[in-house]
Amino acid sequence: MSINHKNTKPKPASSKPMDANGFDQWSANYNADVQASDADKRYPFAAYNKILDRLVELVQPALGKAILDVGIGTGKLSRRLADLGCQITGLDFSDSMLAEARKLLPTAILIQWDFSRGLPPGIEEHRYDTILCNYAIHHLCDHEQQELIAQILMHLKSEGCLLIADVMTETAQEMDYAKKADADLWDEEENYLLAEKVRQWFPESLFEFERFSYCSGILSVKKAGRK
Ligand SMILES: C[S@@+](CC[C@H](N)C(=O)[O-])C[C@H]1O[C@@H](n2cnc3c(N)ncnc32)[C@H](O)[C@@H]1O
Repeated sequence: MSINHKNTKPKPASSKPMDANGFDQWSANYNADVQASDADKRYPFAAYNKILDRLVELVQPALGKAILDVGIGTGKLSRRLADLGCQITGLDFSDSMLAEARKLLPTAILIQWDFSRGLPPGIEEHRYDTILCNYAIHHLCDHEQQELIAQILMHLKSEGCLLIADVMTETAQEMDYAKKADADLWDEEENYLLAEKVRQWFPESLFEFERFSYCSGILSVKKAGRK
């Protein structure tokens, strides 16, 4: 993979974030595009593979651990966790992404759902050890992001953890730097998180931000009242 790889991500006709049809179109080439972007060390997927490795480490996979993968996509990350004994539930609004995920995760619970509406009613009673949201939350506006994270925190077990990985920086200044560095590639329709902003939304929760590249990182969020 190199800078010669042609990114196949569809361009939405409007200035709205990409819808399920856009992701349906992208699903067959999505993994290849991600790998090419990571190989070039550029926005948006710079350090993607390192991030996946770190997420697997942070989950501490074990037999029967309950994982919810929000925006599961082709299921690459969850497959690694399933192979280590975890029980996977995945959400995604794209039929074709879910079809790809099904190939890797034949026994997982996969739910077609638009997470801009929060979490689906079918999992109301469930509590998870880890909830993952890998390169997916940027499709929501600020208030939808805040609502989704609030709901996710309610669906964690008391010792559970939310892991958000994405184009994300600690501060607005760092995000501006990344945007200037990759102005030719930057997707204005996407709404990337700033770790400092999420901290302000949930002052009671416990946060850790790990930077993986000039434009990407992992934010770990744990509920208040635990160490
Ligand atoms: C960039 S991909 C990331 C996929 C996967 N988590 C990964 O790390 O490769 C974003 C995924 O989120 C899904 N998605 C985006 N917006 C969504 C929404 N509002 N509701 C449900 N799924 C959504 C897309 O269909 C896609 O599979």
